[in-house]
Amino acid sequence: MLHSMARVNQLLDHEEYISHMEKIDMLEKERLFCKHGFEHGLNVARIAYSYLLENGETLLHKESVYAAALLHDIGRWIEYGTGEDHAEASARLALPLLEECGFLWDEIQVILKGIREHRRHHEDHLTLLGTALALADDWARDCRHCSGQDLCHKYHEAMNRVMY
Ligand SMILES: [Fe+2]
Ligand SMILES: [Fe+2]
Repeated sequence: MLHSMARVNQLLDHEEYISHMEKIDMLEKERLFCKHGFEHGLNVARIAYSYLLENGETLLHKESVYAAALLHDIGRWIEYGTGEDHAEASARLALPLLEECGFLWDEIQVILKGIREHRRHHEDHLTLLGTALALADDWARDCRHCSGQDLCHKYHEAMNRVMY
């Protein structure tokens, strides 16, 4: 079955989304570790969605999963500037974008909660979307071929993880 991704496509074409991503790309140009551009968002979306499907979770719509994943790090550029937790900043920036792209109030609540939770791997009581995003965020990284291995504090943990 093919799902409509019209609102996600609208999001990707939104000038504010593009502007957030451009800021991140610029600030991460010299970054040795994982970057947080469009490709990272898309990888997280695909992995989070396949994780949910594999676990028989069909309550979350594909569009909501993709929207949350594509927006989960858009506040990174704020963290680089002010030190604010980017999960919070991303949720704040995501709200007007989701509204403008036609997401409904209840969908928006689920998406924002997932974005806020995406860094809280080790906490109980995460929402389903928060859990999927947190797991996919790790699985989305190609640690095996990364040139920053020696300096990355996540490398060893990452290499011992199950593949997804
Ligand atoms: Fe993040
Ligand atoms: Fe991420």
